[in-house]
Amino acid sequence: MKNIIVTGGAGFIGANFVLHMLQKYDNYNIIVYDKLTYAGNLDNLLEVADDPRYSFVQGDICDAEMVEATIQKYNADTIVNFAAETHVDRSIMNPDAFIQTGVYGTYVLLEAAKKHGLRYHQISTDEVYGHIPEGQSSVETDKLDPRSPYAASKASGDLLVNAYFITYDLPVTITRGSNNIGPFQYPEKVVPLFATNAIDEEPLPLYGDGRQMREYQYVLDHCEAIDLVLHKGKLGEAYNIGTGEEMENVQMVEILLETLNRPKDLIKHVKDREGHDRRYSLNIDKIKALGWQPRHTSAEAVAKTAVWYRENEWWWRKIKSGEFKEYYERQYGHRWQTEKE
Ligand code: NAD
Ligand code: TYD
Repeated sequence: MKNIIVTGGAGFIGANFVLHMLQKYDNYNIIVYDKLTYAGNLDNLLEVADDPRYSFVQGDICDAEMVEATIQKYNADTIVNFAAETHVDRSIMNPDAFIQTGVYGTYVLLEAAKKHGLRYHQISTDEVYGHIPEGQSSVETDKLDPRSPYAASKASGDLLVNAYFITYDLPVTITRGSNNIGPFQYPEKVVPLFATNAIDEEPLPLYGDGRQMREYQYVLDHCEAIDLVLHKGKLGEAYNIGTGEEMENVQMVEILLETLNRPKDLIKHVKDREGHDRRYSLNIDKIKALGWQPRHTSAEAVAKTAVWYRENEWWWRKIKSGEFKEYYERQYGHRWQTEKE
C-alpha cells in the first residue's frame, strides 16, 4: 500500500482520517477525492495543504471517468470510501442524493477497484442494523435492517461490497462505526449543533423525550480502528467500531451544557424525527480482538468536542451563516411550534 485514494476525505471523519494517516505514516501518499458537497470543506485539511504527500481532486464518486483518471494519474493501489450523504434528517426530506452516492457511487468505486486490482475499504455505520432492543447488541453477522433512507443507502453499499468479495474476490473490508464526534463535524449533527447553539445561548432542539441511545465515540478513536482494519483486517469481513457504552441524548446534552457553562433551560423538547431509531448498540469484541481499544469514553468525547467548538469559532461561524441557515429554518422552523413543555 502506497497511494491511497480517500473518497469523501474533505468531510468530517475522512479529513480526520487523512490527518491521522499523514501524521502516523511517512511513506503513504494520500489523494483526497471529494465532490465538495455542502458537507465537504477544505478548511478541514488546511493543516496538510502544503504536504507533498497530500493531493486533492474535486470529483464525484458517481463519475466513472473521473474516478478512472484519478486512479491512473496517482497510480493508486487502495481506496478508502468515506463519501456519502450522511445526515438522517436530510435523507428524510430528500433521499435522492443518498441513493446516488451510497448505492451507485459505491458501485462505481467497486468496479474501478476490480479493474485495477485495488484494496478497497468501505466506511459504514451502526445504523445498518436498525433499532436494537434493550439488552441486545449488534454483531457483524446480524441481519441488516435499515430504517431510514440514509441507513438503507449505507446497507446497500455494504451488500455491494460483500458481493464483490464473493463474486470477484476483491480484497475488501468494511467498518461499521457508531456516532462520531470531534473536530470538523458539520453543525447539522446533534453534538456540534448543540455545542454551537449553546455557545450562542440559542435553544437546543431535542427530539421527543431525548431518551434515545447512541454510542458517541471520539472521531480519532474511530480513525485508529479504520487504520488497523486496513492493515490487519481479515478480507471479506466487517468490523463494528464503537465505545461499547451507550448514552441517552439527555445525558449527552447535560455534559455539553456543563462543559460550556450554559443553563439547562436552553433545552427545548421538539417534535420527534420520523421513524427515529431509539437505540443502537454495537458489540465491539471483534475489533478489540484485532488489538484496538477506544481511548475516550463517550462522556470524555462529548466534553472534548464541546471545548473544540468553543475554541474554533473560525471554523464553524462561516458555515452557520451560509446554506446552513436555510436548512435550519426548513428543518426546525415548524418544530419550535410543536415544542412540548
Ligand atoms: P460528512 O457528511 O461530514 O462528509 C461526507 C463527505 O463526502 C463530504 O466531504 C462530501 O463532500 C463527500 N461526498 C458526498 N457525496 C460525494 C460524492 N458523490 N462524491 C464524492 N464525494 C462526496 O460525513 P462524515 O460524518 O465524515 O461521514 C463519513 C462516512 O462515515 C460516511 O460514509 C458515513 O456514512 C460514515 N459514518 C459516519 C458516522 C458519523 O457519526 N458521522 C458514523 C458512522 C459512519
Ligand atoms: P444525529 O447527530 O443526527 O445522528 P444519527 O441520527 O445519525 O444518530 O442525531 C443523534 C441523535 O440526536 C439522534 O437520536 C437524533 C438526536 N437529535 C436531536 O435530538 N435533535 C437534533 O436537532 C438532531 C440533529 C438530532
